[in-house]
Amino acid sequence: MSGVASAPEIEEIKVRALRELDAIEQVGGLDEWRVTFLGRRSELTQVLRGVSSLPPDDRRSVGGAANRAKGLLEQSLAEREQALNEAGLSTALDSEAIDVTLPGWPASSGGLHPTTRTLREICEIFASMGFQVMEGPEVEWDRYNFEMLNIPKHHPARDMFNSFWIDYTDEDGEHPMVLRTHTSPMQARVMEKTRPPVRVVVPGKSFRYEATDPTHEWHFFQIEGLAVDKGITFADMKGTLFELARRLFGQERQIRFRCDYFPFVEPGVDMSIDCFACNGNGCRICGRTGWIEIMGAGMVHPNVLEAVGYDSSIYTGFACGMGVERIAMLKHGIEDIRLFYSNDLRFLRQF
Ligand code: PHE
Repeated sequence: MSGVASAPEIEEIKVRALRELDAIEQVGGLDEWRVTFLGRRSELTQVLRGVSSLPPDDRRSVGGAANRAKGLLEQSLAEREQALNEAGLSTALDSEAIDVTLPGWPASSGGLHPTTRTLREICEIFASMGFQVMEGPEVEWDRYNFEMLNIPKHHPARDMFNSFWIDYTDEDGEHPMVLRTHTSPMQARVMEKTRPPVRVVVPGKSFRYEATDPTHEWHFFQIEGLAVDKGITFADMKGTLFELARRLFGQERQIRFRCDYFPFVEPGVDMSIDCFACNGNGCRICGRTGWIEIMGAGMVHPNVLEAVGYDSSIYTGFACGMGVERIAMLKHGIEDIRLFYSNDLRFLRQF
């Protein structure tokens, strides 16, 4: 540009500058605009520099127009900058705003494991019938797990309880210990320490050397019941276990005893309830038999009573033992015992 301009040319520069300024959306773009239209090498600055060389008549009009244009552009730049800053702030405020009316994240609370729930339910039912709840050691002497329960060494009944053995040796020699194969050892421990009458339930974990499948785990929970007193009969056992079954599985339940063998009871039974799913008609859950086996039970063997120093001609009693997961499976229609130990929240959250 020559440095000499007419008023219409200045007007043209002004219009173009304002149009471009309007198109700028980011504050960062303003500097380039300023250099282009107001900088030392800008058209307008060149015009102003050339004013002095104009003929005196034109100086005033061209100089005045250029100065007004420069003032206007400077002012427009300031306004645009302010407008862009404000717009940026309000978008930032909108996107970063905290909505205090939104509800907070719910704190996730844990729940009781289905085994624990069932275990407590069974203990509560027994407790309401006058039984005390007691626990015992999970690593047990051979003496309590077997011998005091009428299962001497080398007795074939030990095969019923394939077991995890622990070699414990001290200066007195070797003492065989076992991860208890059932909660029955507590029978012997309680009776050894207490005179009749005895009414206890023993919840706890048991261990057996077992190949796992949908109905077997190598560790599981068991609840043992024991009542010993003068004159306790098979009818007392039946009444107690009948009540337990009805409270667990419904008031209409029937129970059935069939002969079974456990060395620490005589007679021994396995107890079934009539199937709650089909009311005894036979279905998939009960294997079409109409009955579901839920526990072992029997009258405490005289040898067991004598081993703890009870006079078996005066005292009698009954014992029963049930797998807790098994009961929970029946109550909730769970088809695989391994789910209890899978730590799978999709399973656990259903309870
Ligand atoms: N202890 C037996 C078991 O683990 C169950 C049982 C307990 C049977 C008490 C009779 C009496 O299989």
